[in-house]
Amino acid sequence: MAKQKIAYVCNDCGAEHTQWQGQCMACNEWNTLSRIMLGAATSPSAPKNFKPKDAQNSESRTQVLGSIDLNEQPRFTTTIGELDRVLGGGLVPGSVVLIGGNPGAGKSTLLLQVMCQLSEEMEALYVTGEESLQQTGMRAKRLGLPTDNLKMLAETNIEEITQAAEECQPKILVVDSIQVMHSADVASAPGSVSQVRECAAYLIQYAKQTGTALILVGHVTKDGNLAGPKVLEHMIDCFMMLEGGEDNRYRTLRGQKNRFGAVNELGVFAMTGLGLKEVKNPSAIFLARTEEISPGSLVMVLWEGTRPLLVEIQALVDSSQYNNPRRVAVGLDNNRVAMLLAVLHRHGGLFMADQDVFVNVVGGVKVTETSADLALLLAIVSSFKDSTLPRELVVFGEVGLAGEIRPVPSGQERLQEAAKHGFTRAIVPKANAPKKPIAGMDVIAVSKLSEALEAL
Ligand code: TYD
Ligand code: MG
Repeated sequence: MAKQKIAYVCNDCGAEHTQWQGQCMACNEWNTLSRIMLGAATSPSAPKNFKPKDAQNSESRTQVLGSIDLNEQPRFTTTIGELDRVLGGGLVPGSVVLIGGNPGAGKSTLLLQVMCQLSEEMEALYVTGEESLQQTGMRAKRLGLPTDNLKMLAETNIEEITQAAEECQPKILVVDSIQVMHSADVASAPGSVSQVRECAAYLIQYAKQTGTALILVGHVTKDGNLAGPKVLEHMIDCFMMLEGGEDNRYRTLRGQKNRFGAVNELGVFAMTGLGLKEVKNPSAIFLARTEEISPGSLVMVLWEGTRPLLVEIQALVDSSQYNNPRRVAVGLDNNRVAMLLAVLHRHGGLFMADQDVFVNVVGGVKVTETSADLALLLAIVSSFKDSTLPRELVVFGEVGLAGEIRPVPSGQERLQEAAKHGFTRAIVPKANAPKKPIAGMDVIAVSKLSEALEAL
C-alpha cells in the first residue's frame, strides 16, 4: 500500500509546508497551519481528464497571444439584472463564481431563482448538499418558479457530482455549498482546508475543461472571512458576498474580485415573501428619511461600481464619561474616523478629545470609498453644534490630512443623481464643480475644510 503523504497548509494563504511550524513562512501569520493528508494516488492537482472541448492534438502546446481565437462564447444573462451587474454583464461560460455570505443571507434562494429561470432556456444542474430535494422543491413551488426543466442532485461526493454533470452536460452548474463537499481522495472531514481546496480544484477543472459556468456557494466565518482557505479566492474568477442580516430586509451583493469586469460593483435586493427581488433604484430605499431630521444627519453620494448611491449618514457627538472617549463607526472604517477627527481639530479648530463620537451609515451599507469623508465630518460638526443641516443638502468629497478637500471620480454623475432625487444644494470639492450648471442644483465648491465649515 502506498504511504499517505502529510502536508501542512496555511489557512490564510494556502501555502504548503512539509512540517508543522508556528508561523507560516509565506505570509508570516501565526497559528494558521493545519495538517492535511494527501491521497496516495493523487497529488492535490493531479490532472483529471474530463472530456476536453476540442481535442488537443496540435504539435506545440504553446500559442502566440495574437493567434488565440477570441470568438469565445458570449456571456449569458442570469435573468436577474442586479446579479448580472455585479458579474460585469452576465455569466461567462467556463467561469467560476463564488458567492459567500452568512447563513440566511439568501444565497440558496437567489441561486434557486436564477437556476429555475435559466433552465427554461438551457441545461442547468443544481447540486444541493445542505438541503433535501423536497425542501428545495417546496421552496421553488412557494416562490412560483418554473420547475419543469431544472435538474437537481442531492449529493456531497465530488466525484459523483462531476460524473452526474458529465452525463447531463449542463451549461450552468451550481454547487451549494463547497464546505459540505468531500472527495474520496482526501482523508479529512468535509469543511476542512484540504477538502475545500481539493473539491474546489476538482470542480474548477471540470468547469474550465467543459466550458460550464460554475457557481459555488461558500459560508463565511464570524469575522466575515470565507471559511476554509483563502486560496479558494485565488482559484476562482469572481467572488461576491451577499450581505445583510436576518433583521434587515435589504441584501447587498458586492463584487470583491472579478476577472471579467469591474470590481466593487454593488447589487441591491429586497427579501420578500416571494424570494429576493431586485431593487432597481437603491438610492430611494436608503433615503427614506423621517419627517423631522435631527442634527448629525446628512445625505452623501457614494459611487458603487458604475453608479451613484445616495445614502444617509448619521453622527452623534456627546460629552464622554470616560478618560478614553469612544469612537464607534458602523459601516465605516474606525481608523478613518479617528484620522478625520484629527483633521477636524487641526484644520477646523473643533476639539473633540472629550467627546464620544458615534457614526452610522443608514441601511447597513458599508462604505469603502473616501468620498464619504467630507459628509462624515460635516455630520459630526452638525451633531456637535446641535444644529440641523438642510434637508435638501448633499455632500461628497475626500478630506486630506492637510485639511484640503480632494476631488473624487464621477462628480458630475453624482450631482445629477442627487438632483434626480430632489436635492437642491450640494457641497463638493472644487475640482468636482460642474462645468455646466445642473438644473435646480445650487453647488458650493470648496477646496479647504475651513471653507466647507463656513458654507454650513
Ligand atoms: P437561504 O437562501 O436559505 O439562505 P442561505 O442559503 O444564504 O443560508 O435564505 C433563508 C432566509 O431567507 C431565511 O431567513 C428566510 C428568508 N426567506 C424569505 O424571507 N422569503 C423567502 O421567500 C425565502 C425563500 C426565504
Ligand atoms: Mg443555503
